[in-house]
Amino acid sequence: MAMLSRRRFLAAGIAATAIPLFGRTATAQTPDGFRVITLRPGEALLRGGDRPATPIWGYDGVVPGPTIRVRRGGEVKVRVVNRLAQPTAVHWHGLRLDNRMDGVPHLTQAPIAPDASFDYRFTAPDAGTFWYHPHWHAGEQLDRGLYGLLIVDEERPVEVDQDVALLLDDWRLDQSGRIHESFGNMHDAAMAGRYGNHLTANGLSNVEIPVVTNERIRLRLVNVANARVMPVRIAGHTATAVAIDGQPAEPFLLDRARVVLTPGGRCDVFVDAALASGATADILVDTGRQEVAVARLVYAAGAPKRAAPLGPVRALPPNPLPERMDFIGALKLDVPLEGGMMGMMRGAGMDPGRFWAIGGRTGDAHSGPPLFSVKRGRTVMLTMKNDTRFPHGMHVHGHHFRVLDALDDGWKPWWNDTVLILADRTARIAFVADNPGKWMLHCHMLEHQDAGMATWFEVT
Ligand code: C2O
Ligand code: CU
Repeated sequence: MAMLSRRRFLAAGIAATAIPLFGRTATAQTPDGFRVITLRPGEALLRGGDRPATPIWGYDGVVPGPTIRVRRGGEVKVRVVNRLAQPTAVHWHGLRLDNRMDGVPHLTQAPIAPDASFDYRFTAPDAGTFWYHPHWHAGEQLDRGLYGLLIVDEERPVEVDQDVALLLDDWRLDQSGRIHESFGNMHDAAMAGRYGNHLTANGLSNVEIPVVTNERIRLRLVNVANARVMPVRIAGHTATAVAIDGQPAEPFLLDRARVVLTPGGRCDVFVDAALASGATADILVDTGRQEVAVARLVYAAGAPKRAAPLGPVRALPPNPLPERMDFIGALKLDVPLEGGMMGMMRGAGMDPGRFWAIGGRTGDAHSGPPLFSVKRGRTVMLTMKNDTRFPHGMHVHGHHFRVLDALDDGWKPWWNDTVLILADRTARIAFVADNPGKWMLHCHMLEHQDAGMATWFEVT
């Protein structure tokens, strides 16, 4: 910890690369080049500047935490200091990284005790939109505000005029604006998970994104909510998806400029600002009852950026993913998702507080043997049948996968690290297990994860 007292503060250089909406990039750095990020309580104006602030837990005491930005192939070096009263660990969601840095307590590292620290150091193999969050009592720690953005830049700048990220969250606040202390309750755990009553983007009630006519904006949408599935729509514009879950996709026009994000999921879209100066357009999350504006594009007065919008969207440069899969020699496994209220607790419920089962057992990240063990380089095909009354967003650590079509072994023209599986549906996924180590497979509805829908596999 001696390093901390000698922290130095970096000057303006870093701020210039920050996303406009994130003024609060981390500034503390150790002499050996680790960015210091401290978990501590803080306050956030979740409901706007005119309402009392909400006590939160944040990386550096703010929500979202500092944005970490590195170029593809570059190294991320972060010293995480825990000033909370409970242990933690940091998981780098979507990163195909060194297993020792994956941040799963007891599986890949010891928990970071109160007042202890841990140095994370890894190479970022893929350009794209990623994020970080705890993997210890995730339901509570994320919900209180512990999450941040990790952007890995393409080697050559992408042709956009603005690069804006929106971390979309769903808070359960009481009358006074405090976070409801109803953590770990059986209703959330056995049903849909912890849904809130207040939506934010980047910890704010209504983010304004200043735009100029005819500019192209890259919008990085991230669902960081505990459990809420978020249909997100950009009003009055067309939007082209260019990346899913951090990985480049064949660009495609989103139907009605709308995309459904499961907790943990991301979508990068290009939006051409086609309205006239003075116009505004909402970015909305559909709660099922209504669409709630969480951000809006605000057209500046003055001349357009250029005479006409930029031409067709080109695909982002590819990342070095293991594309070649061997379906014949693949390890094939049925991984049923069971349990929950109204699901008769099939396969679950033997353990108090464990309402869900995955692959026939109710578990967590570290106890018991792996669900499967596979030799490095082998293709894995998992059939996940959702035998419950609730949707699940299933997340694989350390790998991106293809979602196979229901009819044949063709796949969707994108990669996922988290896939939404609705009630009574089945998802078949395939990936090359090319990253040695112990990796989690779990539901990203965090109350489900904490209540048994979590397991792990090993790549040897
Ligand atoms: Cu974002 Cu294991 O999770
Ligand atoms: Cu779930």
